[in-house]
Amino acid sequence: MKNSYKKYLYIFLIAALYIFTVQMNRMERKDRVREAAINRSQDMEEEGKEEESLFEDKKRVALTFDDGPGEGTEGLLDGLKERNAKATFFVVGEKVEQYPDTIQRMKEEGHLIGNHTYTHVQMNTLSCEAAIAEVKKTSELIESIIGEGTGYLRPPYGECTKQMKKELDMFIVLWDVDPLDWSVQNEDAVVEKVLRDVEDGDIILLHDIFDTSVRAAIRIVDALQKEGYEFVTVEELMFP
Ligand code: NI
Repeated sequence: MKNSYKKYLYIFLIAALYIFTVQMNRMERKDRVREAAINRSQDMEEEGKEEESLFEDKKRVALTFDDGPGEGTEGLLDGLKERNAKATFFVVGEKVEQYPDTIQRMKEEGHLIGNHTYTHVQMNTLSCEAAIAEVKKTSELIESIIGEGTGYLRPPYGECTKQMKKELDMFIVLWDVDPLDWSVQNEDAVVEKVLRDVEDGDIILLHDIFDTSVRAAIRIVDALQKEGYEFVTVEELMFP
């Protein structure tokens, strides 16, 4: 009886040791899995941060200038060139006739030229035929200078009819940020308003026929480039 008691005790101790060893292994494995999960989530967090900073570097914005060219446009082109900033110019046909060299230079320096009608007319106050003639005349003038017309139209005051849009078959480009530069004609006010309102992907509306707007534009480029913004044409913004 005493011998068999010892035998049972022995078996019990062996079994207990076995169970203890198995449990320890299982706990260790769990720890390793948990540790791996923590490492992985940290890696993912770091990757996320990298993606975010890449995205930040890619912020883009389009400066657009209406109603020109004017006397100050060449100076504006100098400033944009120095900063490697591209812009879009919605030109008025009558002005195109006055400043053909400026139009040529815009094209050569990588800017986009858009149409802003021949006489800066509010298109929806004209017949469809007359409004379209205003646009076509301007496109033909642009083509006679740079060898190609334009597929981009900004109707003066942002107004044209559905019928006109349909018949012209051009990209109608409006805007996101409007500092009312033509009205305030104040450099500081224009800079402040644009820098306050601008977001990634925005189209900014300015008029290069005002010196205040030209100076404001250059300050806007300097400030936003420091924040990682790239200045692209409307076309580059629409079709990256
Ligand atoms: Ni205009």
